[in-house]
Amino acid sequence: MTRIAIYPGSFDPITRGHEDLISRSRRFADKVIVAVAVNSSKQPLFTLDERVQLIDAALEDEQAVEVRSFDGLLAEFARSVGARIVIRGLRAVSDFDYESQMALMNRKLYPELETVFLVPAVHLTYLSSSLVREVALLGGDVSAFVHPAVERALRAKVAR
Ligand code: PNS
Repeated sequence: MTRIAIYPGSFDPITRGHEDLISRSRRFADKVIVAVAVNSSKQPLFTLDERVQLIDAALEDEQAVEVRSFDGLLAEFARSVGARIVIRGLRAVSDFDYESQMALMNRKLYPELETVFLVPAVHLTYLSSSLVREVALLGGDVSAFVHPAVERALRAKVAR
């Protein structure tokens, strides 16, 4: 049986923290589908196509990783691709409330779906897409936090 995991999120944009969790997931999943949410409640900096392209660029060396976008319920998307594992990152205790609610709701909607929480490498625990966006838009150096393709894309947004 192929163990398919989905790693959902907004990825606005993908960071080294996301990349770290994807490679960790490959230790127990045969295939990881990075699932980019179309209907994020947030107003993204990058369009859906841009977010997918940047993930493709950042993950060019990863094996058995696919990038897909999805609209609607995560539980339904997981079912449609045959995934029974959802990956989510836990960086701090403050992440836990929202994450546990989401895991329980997803389990209610799709009982065979297990959420697996992963802790990123310690030097990446303070990273988030929103902080990276803020630092980049205010002219800070984000080269340590994102793939060079993402850094270039952020610079292009700042220049506009
Ligand atoms: O990176 P984010 O913004 O924390 O990701 C949140 C995301 C996209 C995983 C979550 O909002 C989601 O699953 N959205 C899809 C709609 C859905 O299924 N909502 C019910 C979740 S219990």
